[in-house]
Amino acid sequence: MDILRIILVILHFVGLSMLLGGFLVQVRAIGQGKGTVVRVMIDGALTQLITGLLLVATIEMGDLYDLDNWKIAVKLLIAVLITVLVFVYRKKDPAPSWALWAIGGLTLANVIVAVAWR
Ligand code: HEM
Repeated sequence: MDILRIILVILHFVGLSMLLGGFLVQVRAIGQGKGTVVRVMIDGALTQLITGLLLVATIEMGDLYDLDNWKIAVKLLIAVLITVLVFVYRKKDPAPSWALWAIGGLTLANVIVAVAWR
């Protein structure tokens, strides 16, 4: 079970990189009002949802340690918001700057929740 958890955490970091990296390469374009939702953001958002939920299942079923349900609920809510934003604005060119900043900001918020909520 622990090896599965380790693999999922690694994939969870890959998804985080896709989401945040996709946002960061757009920052200049967003500043010019020309930002768009790039494909890697959509893949990253879905990767986070899938690997996050599989991580919860692995930790619970393997009885690895106690998860904070509120922390998981907050992370899930934030990830769902990100996913809604990337899907709603994926075909808008340019996408609204606020939506792109929200995608980047919410991703960072979930990193903060993940590491600071102990
Ligand atoms: C944008 C979305 C997300 C980001 C950026 C994110 C970020 C992270 C990071 C950086 C870690 C590593 C923390 C550490 O090992 O100290 C982590 C772990 C974890 N994440 Fe996420 N996450 C996201 C979405 C989710 C979702 C949707 C779920 C489940 C519903 C989830 C569940 C977990 C779990 C169970 C762990 C294992 C560590 C723990 O006990 O908290 N994550 N996440």
